[in-house]
Amino acid sequence: MTTMGTPPVLEMRDVSMCFDERPLFEGFNLRLDRDEILGLTGPSGSGKSTVLRIAVDLVSPTTGTVLCHGVPVTEYDPRELRRRMILVPQRASMFSGTVRDNLLWGLRVHGLSATEDELVGALDNVFLGREFLDKVAGNLSGGEMQRVAIARGLLLKPDALLLDEPTSALDHEATLVVEDTIRAVLEERHIGVLIVTHNREQARRFTSRVVELNNNNRKDSEDSSSMGVSQ
Ligand SMILES: Nc1ncnc2c1ncn2[C@@H]1O[C@H](COP(=O)(O)OP(=O)(O)OP(=O)(O)O)[C@@H](O)[C@H]1O
Ligand SMILES: [Mg+2]
Repeated sequence: MTTMGTPPVLEMRDVSMCFDERPLFEGFNLRLDRDEILGLTGPSGSGKSTVLRIAVDLVSPTTGTVLCHGVPVTEYDPRELRRRMILVPQRASMFSGTVRDNLLWGLRVHGLSATEDELVGALDNVFLGREFLDKVAGNLSGGEMQRVAIARGLLLKPDALLLDEPTSALDHEATLVVEDTIRAVLEERHIGVLIVTHNREQARRFTSRVVELNNNNRKDSEDSSSMGVSQ
């Protein structure tokens, strides 16, 4: 349930989105608090990735309000906003070089650095051993890359992780490992997690609540998000 008083990490109120004057969705509401895993589902092309991009102000909604900790996202310094809410895109990209290079890259973008122990700690958060630091990032498996991408984000000490289908390219076993990883991170860091998934099974076992995005969105968003109904 939602907490009284504390503004949520992310809140979207009555958001609508048009591309080229064609409405994609409207009347969309969402609230993400710390310590919860919120699912975002909907058919392909319904705008799930767009919702995540709106959340971190990479795209402006046509109408509606988007708040991070109660403050409009447009009032944040973009880098600060994208440090507070880490978006891990549908296909997490690794840069050339080692896992260490990749972890440090995320920090460098934000003018930060980390000790070797902190890098090892970030890998430990995603159940990867210190030997991964010197592996070539491009040679990792899909599941390992997703976990490195999450570790790279976690080094920035975010308040929320926005994960765009983080397990869609993974087999069942690797999917469960990534889910365990995210759950462990949530327990340790008390972050909020918003996860886009096509997989109903995953939504059922992994999320505490699901917001559905579809062409008849007004009704769904009221049912499942703004009213805070658990599914
Ligand atoms: N910058 C843009 N300009 C024009 N149209 C766009 C833009 N970004 C996204 N769209 C369109 O908006 C629609 C929704 O895209 P989006 O990627 O958000 O869907 P999705 O729900 O994430 O789909 P999938 O499940 O396939 O990943 C698509 O039809 C897409 O072509
Ligand atoms: Mg998408």
